Amino acid sequence: MAQLPPFDHTPLPYDGPTPAEVLKMRKDFVNPAIFHYYKKPIMIVEGKGQYLFDETGRRYLDGFGGIVTVSVGHCHPEVVKAANQQNETIQHTTTIYLNPGIALYAKELAAKMPGDLKVCYFVNSGSEANDLAVLMARAHTGNYDLVALRNAYHGGSPGTMALTSHHTWKFNVPHSFGVQHARMPDPYRGPFGMDDPDAGKKYAADVAETIQFGTSGRIAGFIAESIQGVGGSVVFPDGYLKHAYEHARAAGALCIADEVQAGFGRTGTHFWGFETQGVMPDIVTMAKGIGNGCPLAAVVTTPEIARSLASRIHFNTFGGNPVSCAQGRAVLRVIENEGLQANCLNIGAYLTAGFEKLAGKHSIIGQVRGKGLMLGVELVKDRNTKEPAKEQCAEVFERCKDLGLLIGKGGLWGNTLRIKPPMCIHQADADFMLEVIDAALAGI
Ligand SMILES: Cc1ncc(COP(=O)(O)O)c(C=O)c1O
Repeated sequence: MAQLPPFDHTPLPYDGPTPAEVLKMRKDFVNPAIFHYYKKPIMIVEGKGQYLFDETGRRYLDGFGGIVTVSVGHCHPEVVKAANQQNETIQHTTTIYLNPGIALYAKELAAKMPGDLKVCYFVNSGSEANDLAVLMARAHTGNYDLVALRNAYHGGSPGTMALTSHHTWKFNVPHSFGVQHARMPDPYRGPFGMDDPDAGKKYAADVAETIQFGTSGRIAGFIAESIQGVGGSVVFPDGYLKHAYEHARAAGALCIADEVQAGFGRTGTHFWGFETQGVMPDIVTMAKGIGNGCPLAAVVTTPEIARSLASRIHFNTFGGNPVSCAQGRAVLRVIENEGLQANCLNIGAYLTAGFEKLAGKHSIIGQVRGKGLMLGVELVKDRNTKEPAKEQCAEVFERCKDLGLLIGKGGLWGNTLRIKPPMCIHQADADFMLEVIDAALAGI
């Protein structure tokens, strides 16, 4: 059986409620629409670096980072120290008073952005960031409609639920109006395949058609993730966003890059996912990994676009909270000081090569895809029909947990294993992960 690499950390003894008691309390008192992973849910009570510990002290390799959110590692000492220091000094002010945290953080975040993207708005979640981006695009252009992509996930608020394009996340209520979804640019499942050098341009033509057939012809915005995360780590063909942005801009749109999952170096080659497609968005939204687990998100845009929102007050109580800002600043420092983007590139390439090797052995693997440490392994019943191997994927996922590896699962049919660990994992962890997934796929 695969062995986790040695790790010098003893978790604290746990003497709280048992998993059965917690499950019961969740059932009785917590939102019944949330779901838990695994037939028999596990309880996580401690995290350190790339590892998680359950109430018995059992260690797991975290291959999913709390849904692509723990970017620099669980309880990273520098992040913890920054948050603790801020908690002991002043926890909350709102922006009605000056506090250095928000100003310093905005300056440091802006320094990470290309071009004229330098005005930061701080909010509390990815959904809120995307809602704000949509408002901004509408206020700036005077247009209303938006084009998003099929297979996208942009949030669960009433506004972003309209952008999201999976029936599984949508309630049967009126969402925000005026959103059309263009064809998903997926070279594995779509009509233009991996071998078509013009696939990017061909998929992007559907953005122009969606505008022509589904809107007044003038739109406020085009929004896309740089790699579709919840949709199963779908990577667009080269040139897709460039052509899509051209079509959208010709119809008056601002282009919004949703970097909630792909940002902060995770793709390995670039700090921002949109840079892997060589485009310059007008608005960038970010969340999750930005704060390594604290409720922090941001929208960054140009001074010109920001002026369009200045005609009214824009305020939220917790946006720019001193503790979140301290934590966000620490995350930026750790990514830089520990070379985590380069680590994503190296370990990501190592894992990709390993998964490709597994694909040679297990015919259930239909495609290995992704960039850096944002990877997907799509499972299919048959490589020709590409019928999603949903039940098998669920079984592999359970087996991985039993063997000590926690990963994610995604795509509309839930047949893609999502590998998005904290960006600090080591090669020995990657070896463990490959060995576990190999064992979990055996005989499936
Ligand atoms: C790409 C993307 N955008 C937006 C969101 C919404 O973020 P939040 O759950 O913080 O509202 C998510 C969440 O999974 C996401 O993956």
